[in-house]
Amino acid sequence: MLGHLRRGLTPKFNRKMDSYHKVARLILESRQIVAFTGAGISAESGIPTFRDPGGLWDQFDPDEVGTAGGLVNTALSKPELIRKFMAQLVEVFDKSQPNMGHYGLHSLEQMGYLKTVITQNIDALHQEAGSTDVIEVHGSLFRARCLNCGRKQMLHKREFLSRAKKFFEDEHNFEVLKMVELLPRCPVCHNPSRPDVVMFGEAVQMLPEAVSIAESCDLMLVLGTSGVVYPAAALPYQAAERGAKVIEINPTGNYYDSICEIYIDSPAGEAMPKLLDIIKDLL
Ligand code: APR
Repeated sequence: MLGHLRRGLTPKFNRKMDSYHKVARLILESRQIVAFTGAGISAESGIPTFRDPGGLWDQFDPDEVGTAGGLVNTALSKPELIRKFMAQLVEVFDKSQPNMGHYGLHSLEQMGYLKTVITQNIDALHQEAGSTDVIEVHGSLFRARCLNCGRKQMLHKREFLSRAKKFFEDEHNFEVLKMVELLPRCPVCHNPSRPDVVMFGEAVQMLPEAVSIAESCDLMLVLGTSGVVYPAAALPYQAAERGAKVIEINPTGNYYDSICEIYIDSPAGEAMPKLLDIIKDLL
């Protein structure tokens, strides 16, 4: 009777389940866990990644919309391209909700295993899932930064997105220079603001904090990043150099294979609930 069941459990399935069990045990044995996430963890929330086929950098040229100078030049020379780029971004962010990948990390935090999430994402979905200790090294689309004094102010996500949606969807009356009016002026010096996101060529945010947290962990979960954008992409290496074990969860590749203890080739939104089930069974 068991013969055919065992036949059903292919060696690949057994290896995969073994990986999950190994990761679950590592999580239970760890003193301080940090998660490092990228666009992939928000893919199941409907936000396209950057470098997958059909991703954002497949559709738009990062030199035109990914640098501050490029964005200004493109706004003046090809305003319709900016409207389309922003309309798409606002559309997917507006529809997006946290998925089981985000909620899984929040559960690990609630259980006392996960200390901090270091994310490259600007979508605030970790916080929306309930994570309380989140470092956004590439900033946030839902924070405004004064162009003059640098003062920051939080935006109400839904309110901002609904205004931005109306503005960018209005292709007949679109005036690119009015984009700045979507954000509140600085409450102190009353100068215009810009989104507090890190564009290519700009300094990342809270890097010293991110590095020291990465170097103090003994287990790093790397979810949904291709690991090509530095200095953030160096964080798993910095953790490994200090003796941390690195676990990678990504359905398209083991991008940190040189330092990776266990690789799970699965979408984060599928892997995290499985891991949590096993952890709960082992407790
Ligand atoms: N779960 C986990 N990983 C996934 C999933 C998923 N459901 N879907 C896709 N992925 C993988 C992709 O295959 C890819 O390897 O997540 C990775 C996302 O990589 P990128 O698109 O390169 O995004 P990221 O690594 O976050 O980019 C870093 O580059 O464009 C800049 O500033 C931007 O923060 C961004 C930085």
